[in-house]
Amino acid sequence: MASRSAKPARRNAGTKVSAAAKKNASAKRSAAKRRATAAQMDGKPKLYASLVVQLLSLLKGEHDFIANAANMSALLFNSLPNVNWAGFYFLQGEELVLGPFQGNPACVRIPMGKGVCGVAAKQCETIIVPNVHEFPGHIACDVASNSEIVVPIFDGERLLGVLDLDSPTIGRFDDQDAEGLNELVTVFVAHEEGLGL
Ligand code: SME
Repeated sequence: MASRSAKPARRNAGTKVSAAAKKNASAKRSAAKRRATAAQMDGKPKLYASLVVQLLSLLKGEHDFIANAANMSALLFNSLPNVNWAGFYFLQGEELVLGPFQGNPACVRIPMGKGVCGVAAKQCETIIVPNVHEFPGHIACDVASNSEIVVPIFDGERLLGVLDLDSPTIGRFDDQDAEGLNELVTVFVAHEEGLGL
């Protein structure tokens, strides 16, 4: 009798310890993830400097515009923390048309002046949106997106399109991202210059 009643007691105690251990391990993992993300966020200039080097290496010797834009979007999507969409829209007439990207399928055509992308293109300036739900006319392509940055792309004075990044984290993008992404776009365009884009 004693052993029969002791067994379930031990099992229960074991189950409790195991649940607590799991909770503890999960809390440790979350804390480590938060520290890693914070470290990456603190080191944004370093991260962008490293991305410039990686982008140059990806572009080296290759002048296929679509291939290069595709690789750049993959580089950004996979290297920047807390990003759920990264890609290009290129100007065709009076609208922006979806280019190479990483993330969920997105709306294909954005008229100039519409959405964050259309406003950035029309105003010819980088736009940081800390909370997309507060941006009038924001075009929601992925329900997971909560913040966004859009960087216009120029070849000299000519607007080619925009680079767009989304994040599920409110307030994910700041001036350091704007600076880093503008530098990456400049490297990209300088490489493609003279290709008759
Ligand atoms: N949110 C953008 C649309 C493009 S998706 O984010 C990929 C906008 O408001 O223009």
